[in-house]
Amino acid sequence: MTGRIAGKVCVVTGAGSGIGRATAQRLAAEGGHVLCADINGDSAAATADEIRSAGGSAASRAVDVADPRAVDAMIADAVERWGQLDVLVNNAGVNIPGVLHEVSDEVIDRTLAVNVKGQIYGCRAAIPHMLDRNGSIINISSVNGVVSEPFLAVYSASKGASVMLTKGVALDYAKRGIRCNVVCPGWVDTPINYAHAEMLGGLQKVYDTIDSFQPIGRPGEPSEIANVVLFLASDEASLMTGSVVLVDGGMTSQ
Ligand SMILES: NC(=O)c1ccc[n+]([C@@H]2O[C@H](COP(=O)([O-])OP(=O)(O)OC[C@H]3O[C@@H](n4cnc5c(N)ncnc54)[C@H](O)[C@@H]3O)[C@@H](O)[C@H]2O)c1
Repeated sequence: MTGRIAGKVCVVTGAGSGIGRATAQRLAAEGGHVLCADINGDSAAATADEIRSAGGSAASRAVDVADPRAVDAMIADAVERWGQLDVLVNNAGVNIPGVLHEVSDEVIDRTLAVNVKGQIYGCRAAIPHMLDRNGSIINISSVNGVVSEPFLAVYSASKGASVMLTKGVALDYAKRGIRCNVVCPGWVDTPINYAHAEMLGGLQKVYDTIDSFQPIGRPGEPSEIANVVLFLASDEASLMTGSVVLVDGGMTSQ
């Protein structure tokens, strides 16, 4: 087997769409065995089918990352299939925008359950299988982990927590053979942004004016985030742990 992560066993959450789908495909194209997990089991299965059709190694599983026992079972599934665990990409997320004083209890609870607890559960379940064997955990936060935007107070709170979870895990396991890094994408062209775009006047308006907040002047493509995740998953990033990696077309340089 050849590739930049040849033979590594990977779990990617939220693998049925967008950044997770592109990441699962990229990891598999570079020789990884990839368990594609998503709350939408059909979409996860479709990603795994695409990977196998392209000659890669993949399986799929329906998982709600807000359910700790489902996350434990997801990690156990990967270890049972392929005998080890090398890479976890905590990518699944929700973005339910709103004006804070109008946001419901349900939206607050769901955002924190998926975006924060889901990543904590993933790390907790994966770490015992990675100890002393060169594991890599990549959490997907957002530029909103370091700067906020209108209507995103709850989402930003959750993404800030992802950054600090990453630093905590990085410190605790730096001498135990586990690296943990966090990727903070700018605006990437995926469905998670559609509700936020509506509140900003529609997706077309956002894209017409994207220069005003994302200096590179266009939305990112999921593959451009996947490329960075691949690097962090690989041994090429062997000195990186606790790093906050902004992949944002210059957004946070302003
Ligand atoms: N697209 C962007 O501009 C952008 C920017 C910064 C950060 N992000 C982050 O990237 C990650 C991926 O988002 P995306 O842009 O690919 O969006 P997306 O909507 O295309 O994909 C999100 C996927 O997560 C899955 N998911 C949602 N809740 C889940 C749960 N409880 N358990 C398991 N799976 C669940 C969805 O079914 C979907 O397949 C998210 O964490 C998001 O916050 C995205």
